[in-house]
Amino acid sequence: MRVRPERKHDAAAIRNVQYNAFNDHPYTYKDEYKIVDALRKSDSLTLSLVAEEYGAGIVGQLTISPVLINGHDEGWFYVGPVGVLPEHQRKGIGTSLIRQAVRAMYTQRANGLISHGDPKFFTKLGFRNDSRITYKNVQPEHIVLLPLGKSVPEGAVVLHTAHLTDYL
Ligand SMILES: CC(C)(COP(=O)(O)OP(=O)(O)OC[C@H]1O[C@@H](n2cnc3c(N)ncnc32)[C@H](O)[C@@H]1OP(=O)(O)O)[C@@H](O)C(=O)NCCC(=O)NCCS
Repeated sequence: MRVRPERKHDAAAIRNVQYNAFNDHPYTYKDEYKIVDALRKSDSLTLSLVAEEYGAGIVGQLTISPVLINGHDEGWFYVGPVGVLPEHQRKGIGTSLIRQAVRAMYTQRANGLISHGDPKFFTKLGFRNDSRITYKNVQPEHIVLLPLGKSVPEGAVVLHTAHLTDYL
């Protein structure tokens, strides 16, 4: 398995991964797979990494886009959607995608990453709950942060409008 940045012809495989990763998810809106296309189209896809398995093609994908906190660009980014095809889950692919994304964003001097989802997955990878950042009425225990800079801004986070499903 290898992780690499997406290439021009990966869009259909990425849609397939995200559609199937979220298909049976308890909190899905079933259109997370459209978010990557929408971010790409609006030139706001900060990072898209794919996981390729020999003989199986693209089996996982991770998306990063900018956020505003209290209306300001604080150099923080949202991680998601991140998905792995169900038959390839629990083999370390999600972990590899997050680890490589964190390295890339640290190198790009991002101040921090925010996500939400199963805290069991994210907290194993260094993310932590932190009530300083809020999102609408989402429970604080479902919001996870990974600071990469010196401080954590306080306030409400706003995702890029490509996250139209508002699935947070
Ligand atoms: C979350 C997801 C990306 C993880 O990918 P993965 O390749 O299965 O993750 P890994 O194999 O690296 O798992 C790392 C750890 O995360 C936890 N974990 C992963 N998937 C989990 C799940 N479905 N339920 C509970 N814990 C899970 C486990 O602790 C796991 O370690 P373990 O297997 O040693 O117990 C994948 O399950 C997925 O696509 N889920 C549906 C979409 C989703 O919820 N995305 C996250 C929100 S954007």
